Amino acid sequence: MSSERAPRAVTVRDIQNRKGGELIVAVTAYDALFGRLVDEAGVDIVLVGDSVGNVVAGFDSTLPVTLEQMIYHGAAVRRGVARALLAVDMPFLTYQVDEARAIENCGRVMQQTGADAVKIEGGSERIARTVERLVEIGIPVMGHIGFTPQSVNALGGHRVQGRDEDGAAMLAAQAKRLEQSGAFAVVLELVPAAVAGRITAQVSIPTIGIGAGAACDGQVLVLPDLLGLNEAFSPRFLKQYANLAGTVRDAVRAYGEDVRARRYPADEHSF
Ligand code: KIV
Repeated sequence: MSSERAPRAVTVRDIQNRKGGELIVAVTAYDALFGRLVDEAGVDIVLVGDSVGNVVAGFDSTLPVTLEQMIYHGAAVRRGVARALLAVDMPFLTYQVDEARAIENCGRVMQQTGADAVKIEGGSERIARTVERLVEIGIPVMGHIGFTPQSVNALGGHRVQGRDEDGAAMLAAQAKRLEQSGAFAVVLELVPAAVAGRITAQVSIPTIGIGAGAACDGQVLVLPDLLGLNEAFSPRFLKQYANLAGTVRDAVRAYGEDVRARRYPADEHSF
C-alpha cells in the first residue's frame, strides 16, 4: 500500500483566508486533460469558464453557451482536477430570470459536475439577492463585475469599465454588495488598476483580476490565451507563457511529412 497521501483539496474557506496574503492563482480549463495539467501545476482555482463558447466552440461571444454544455465541460474538468477549487460559470439566462430558476440551475451544476462553487456575472441589487439565496442554501458563489462578457452587447463591446468617477464608484458599490451577499470572492475584469486596487482595499473578500492590474488578491487567465494557442487574441493585459499554436502546427506538419514519406509508422510502431 502506498504511503503517499492525496493532496488536500482547496476549499472556499482557504480562498477566503488568502485575502491580503499569498496571491491566488486561477486559470480556466474545459476538459479533463487540461484540468489535470493545470491542477498538477499547482493553481488554486480552476474555472470552467463560459469562455468555452469563444475558445472551444468558436462563437464570437459567450451568449450561445447552454447549461447542458457547461455541465458537460464542468463534469469533464472535475474528472481531471483533484486539488484546486473547481468553479463553474453559470451561462447567460440561467440565473438572471428569477431566483427559483437560478437555484435550480446552480443546484444542477453543483450536483451534475461535482463543482465546488459557481460563478455568476453582475453586481445589481437583483443579482446580489440571488447570491444571498444561493449562499443561504449552501452554494458557494464567486461574483464577476467590471466587464461582464454576457453583457457585451449592452456594454458596447470589450471595454474597460469604471474609467470615470461614477463608474468606479458603481463598481466599488457592487463589490461591497456582493461581499455582503456572501460571495466568497469576486472577479474584476477590465478595470483600471487603480480602481481595482481601491476595491481590493475596501472589501474583505479576495478580488481576482483579469485585465485589472497587480493590486488584486489574485489573477485569472483563459488557458488557451496564456498558452499562446489563440493567436488572434492578444489584448494588452495578456501575457503569453508559451507559443503552443506554433508547437501544434509544427508537430502536426512533421507528422504529415513522416506519413507522406513512409517514415511513420516505422517497425517499432508496428505489430
Ligand atoms: O469565462 C471565463 O473564462 C471567465 C474568466 C475570463 C474570468 O469568466
